[in-house]
Amino acid sequence: MSNVGIIGLGHYLPKKKLTNADLEKLVDTSDEWIITRTGIRERRVAGRKERTSDLAVRSARQALSDAKLDPAGLDLIIVATISPDSNFPSVACLVQKALRADNAAAFDISAACSGFLYALTTAKQFILSGLYRNALVIAAEKITNFIDWNDRSTCILFGDGAGACVLSKVKGPRGIISDYMHAQGRFGDLMMVKSADREPLDQKTKTMQAPRIAMQGKELFKVAVNSMADAATVAVQKAGMKLDDIDCVVPHQANDRIIAAVAKKLGLPKSKIFVNIDKYGNMSAASIAVALYEAVKQKKIKRGSNVVLVTFGAGLVSAANVVKW
Ligand code: UT7
Repeated sequence: MSNVGIIGLGHYLPKKKLTNADLEKLVDTSDEWIITRTGIRERRVAGRKERTSDLAVRSARQALSDAKLDPAGLDLIIVATISPDSNFPSVACLVQKALRADNAAAFDISAACSGFLYALTTAKQFILSGLYRNALVIAAEKITNFIDWNDRSTCILFGDGAGACVLSKVKGPRGIISDYMHAQGRFGDLMMVKSADREPLDQKTKTMQAPRIAMQGKELFKVAVNSMADAATVAVQKAGMKLDDIDCVVPHQANDRIIAAVAKKLGLPKSKIFVNIDKYGNMSAASIAVALYEAVKQKKIKRGSNVVLVTFGAGLVSAANVVKW
């Protein structure tokens, strides 16, 4: 029996840390408020000259080395990102060039914080169909490019980072067992980047406005909890498993209280849920990819573990996969 599985993992986090104490100097907030309302203690911020593709390439090199695969052996590169270096070329093409992965097709996926799982499921189909053998899936974000550093309700939440994995056929009862992708466009207004091309010119100052994240946090919170609990439940059912069979859940890291509420809805102990939001905040698509990398390195996920990856993001899009490690 063969399935599609993850044969290598990588990650990259920019060196610069932005702590809650640093943010206290920027906006009217406190370390105590941020920790109790979100669980975040610090996040990473990419350097001015560091681009999303730079983060992506570093995580990709580590994943390829972990998979013991030469870049020439890649048939497909998918990058999940909502913070590309520019509208085009795609980040995936920039990665292909840097890696000299000359035999690969390459494209980006835009599904906000659900991007990594959307990309994983997409890449899996290409391998299952027989069109491609080896795929590199990367989630990379320099989301701080879109932060309004005067808005305390959003600037405390986000950070930059990247995670990557190599997918290939694997033998035995392991690999990506089930997939679920969903979208609820009617909730699109809850979180968006106010695009410069809609209102490019500030009428007062006559200067170009930079695109910035705008969010209705409280409303998003409720939809997030329901969407993630539903996505995980469906993916577990599709895998022919029960929630009791699950050893580790790797959820999107948007808010520790969202994660706790999802665990409660699913009836799972928090000991089975992997959390690293305290160190990195919300890295959009990269959150799950980095969390998966760390969960494996910390041996929270071992050979044979039944793992649920579950996420939601702006759009609103949600997704989940069950993976047998
Ligand atoms: O990947 C998807 C990304 N986004 C999300 O998942 C966001 C989901 N939502 C959340 O995580 C939470 O709603 C937030 C963390 C954004 C906010 O937490 P909350 O418990 O929903 O707070 P709130 O918005 O109801 O605000 C409570 C109070 C308000 O003051 P008043 O009106 O009660 O006086 C806010 O002005 O907290 C105030 N506040 C802050 N105070 C200190 C909002 N942000 C801050 C802040 N520091 N950074």
